[in-house]
Amino acid sequence: MADTAPYETLLSHRARTATSSVIRDLLRHANRPEVISLAGGIPAPALFPLERIGRASEVALQEVGATAAQYGLTEGVEELRELFAADASVDRPVHPGQILVTTGSQQAIDLVGRVLVDPGDQIVVDDPAYLGALQALRGHGPDITGISVDDKGLDTHELETKLRAGLRPKLAYTNPNFQNPTGATMSRQRREHLARLANEFGFVIIEDDPYDALRFAGEAQPSIATFTERVIRIRTVSKTLAPGLRVAWMISPQPIHDALVIAKQAVDLHTSTYTQHTALRLLRDRQWYAEHEKTLSPWYLERRDALSAGLHEAFGDDLEFNTPEGGMFLWAQLKNSMVDTTALLDVALENGVAFVPGAAFAVERKLPNHLRLSFATASPPELHEAAHRLQAAVRRLAADIQD
Ligand SMILES: Cc1ncc(COP(=O)(O)O)c(C=O)c1O
Repeated sequence: MADTAPYETLLSHRARTATSSVIRDLLRHANRPEVISLAGGIPAPALFPLERIGRASEVALQEVGATAAQYGLTEGVEELRELFAADASVDRPVHPGQILVTTGSQQAIDLVGRVLVDPGDQIVVDDPAYLGALQALRGHGPDITGISVDDKGLDTHELETKLRAGLRPKLAYTNPNFQNPTGATMSRQRREHLARLANEFGFVIIEDDPYDALRFAGEAQPSIATFTERVIRIRTVSKTLAPGLRVAWMISPQPIHDALVIAKQAVDLHTSTYTQHTALRLLRDRQWYAEHEKTLSPWYLERRDALSAGLHEAFGDDLEFNTPEGGMFLWAQLKNSMVDTTALLDVALENGVAFVPGAAFAVERKLPNHLRLSFATASPPELHEAAHRLQAAVRRLAADIQD
């Protein structure tokens, strides 16, 4: 028999160089029942309207029959696109023809990479950034520049300095509301500034906005797409209905939209007609949906406060953290710079608490003392306990370092 090459040698360059999401690898360990997880980026399952989802899918089958189980248009179900266009939360008219329904926002980000990024093209991203976006965009081989995120979101002044010095990105990726991982919300001034820079330097902004409905304090900021047409705005039902539906949508300038449709056709033909018809029936019941949406932010607010109080009590001044106005994440930094949070994770898991080290989200900056703490899924007493377990893990590691 002829020698056969090992499978690894058959893998494409892209597959060989792709790395798995650190969060996913880590979640495997965080799933042990004795571990309180502040690690996941997932919404609270208790908020999924399961009974309504069941009914909506039945009604979909009754109303449109086999159409809900048949192949559909790549662009998405027409009525759903109309609804998304009407509900774009952008301060100018959006046409249903600009809407592409996608299989999650994750697919939307990948599709943008497919149609706009050639290997070696410059792009800029939040630093730190949502890991899934980094993973999707890196797959297309860009030259990535990280722009700092502070408490007012992506630092557009830093971006402007780099643009004036010659940086020429095709794309700028940002998550402007309750950013994953920092919880920061971009100020109105920075949104306008970013829009002006996109107009002047000719790049396109990806405005990835899955958390905007989860605001529990402060004032809603206008979408970046309000200030320029050079925006691909991505939204999803994952954090408001349920991520398992895999229904998201993107609004793009027409020539980019047309290219995205062709790219999506090659990837999966279209997003599930069944879950699109189900989501449509949930979203178009305006009264029910408005009531449902109102239940989301109090849940997350109660948990943000429980975690904040627990951290204050356990750490005193030894941990700095922000107070996000919405979303699911608190971003924290240990004052003791000797304690590296990647090393801390092992000890924390032994102590029964999981989190994601800042290094997992870092693009160019080193974030050895940062932690992303999700307050989305644990109960308030668990969050309180988790803060104390975390502090005990820090104490243990700090003592080991000193020995
Ligand atoms: C910033 C950001 N974008 C996109 C996603 C993916 O969302 P979807 O379920 O719509 O693919 C997430 C999920 O955690 C996220 O945090």
